[in-house]
Amino acid sequence: MTKIHLRGVEKRYGEVAVLHDCNLEIRENEFLVLVGPSGSGKTTLLRIIAGLEHISGGDLFFDSERMNEVDVGDRDIAMVFQNYGLYPHMSVFDNMAFGLRRRRMAVDEIDGRVHRAAELLNIAPYLRRRPRQLSGGQRQRVALGRAIVRNPKVFLLDEPLSNLDAHLRVQMRAEILKVHRTVSATAIYVTHDQVEALTMGDRIVVMAEGRIHQVGTPDELYDSPVDRFVASFIGTPSMGFVECRVEGAEITTGAGHVKLSPAQRQALAGRRDRVSVGVRPERLALVTNEGSGAEVLLRGTVEAVEMLGAEQYVHFVVEGGSLNARVPREHVVRAGDDVSFTTQSKHLYLFDQESAA
Ligand SMILES: Nc1ncnc2c1ncn2[C@@H]1O[C@H](COP(=O)(O)OP(=O)(O)O)[C@@H](O)[C@H]1O
Ligand SMILES: [Mg+2]
Repeated sequence: MTKIHLRGVEKRYGEVAVLHDCNLEIRENEFLVLVGPSGSGKTTLLRIIAGLEHISGGDLFFDSERMNEVDVGDRDIAMVFQNYGLYPHMSVFDNMAFGLRRRRMAVDEIDGRVHRAAELLNIAPYLRRRPRQLSGGQRQRVALGRAIVRNPKVFLLDEPLSNLDAHLRVQMRAEILKVHRTVSATAIYVTHDQVEALTMGDRIVVMAEGRIHQVGTPDELYDSPVDRFVASFIGTPSMGFVECRVEGAEITTGAGHVKLSPAQRQALAGRRDRVSVGVRPERLALVTNEGSGAEVLLRGTVEAVEMLGAEQYVHFVVEGGSLNARVPREHVVRAGDDVSFTTQSKHLYLFDQESAA
């Protein structure tokens, strides 16, 4: 059980800065997900916590102990990687026992730990097999098992499910969370997949270009994104935006009309002359006959329609931007159609244009 604290953590490779002023408190026993596009610095941050990379600036604490100079072997962590890293010539049992034998743990203790982990992960029947005699999902379980038997204070997982097919990925997400509840350790899980982040994280850290943009629960990130990057990164299909002009406490757009709530008008007053207005796809309603007194009306042209079975995603272009909407199947919408959508003022997100990452 360990709290992890990053204070102003920086990482540079020569001249190139890849992490900038990262501040983060990871709670005891929490399942924390680091999410962001490829190249945003997730692996680098994880490797710094593991002790596999030196910190160029700032401090790392486990509980109250400063860890900057502590060797990787003395940090009591276990890592699981995307490519499993199993020894091909060893049995599953030996792969899981390897690290414990190196520490000269008693044979009975090793045996007990490996069998308990194998039961937990449903791989007990395969302990004598070699990794190549296992499916991808089973190999992933062995890699998890090898981490669990160490009984570490902290688990670090770097895109552990990327090599699995979609169905297995969903199943393994649930299993990893089950294991986490059983072993009670602090876990940091890296993924580029925002769905994985939303479904797994107690809290989520959104990163881009070496910076932490926001830290929060899945609900907080979805409902109250702090900037345009987080707003567009979290959610499927993603939030669309319309660039609007600010005039006093009103905004104008060629896409239709937008009426703001009093709180939004207050937030806008005295600000810059343009804002990005975002709307979540499920908050847009297709209008079949205009003329109602909708608070917000946006007109555009359909660019693409994606059929998903229960519903369809409609991507449409408006003056100053493009938006995505979830539309029930009974509406027939085709690329090239002129369409109008309404929403309520309270569903609008206003962002500075500069904050687009
Ligand atoms: N050893 C290295 N030398 C120089 N640049 C690196 C090195 N490792 C990673 N980087 C750079 O750091 C940035 C972040 O990489 P990484 O942490 O692997 O991102 P992510 O895991 O989010 O995809 C990338 O731009 C990458 O090119
Ligand atoms: Mg990575």
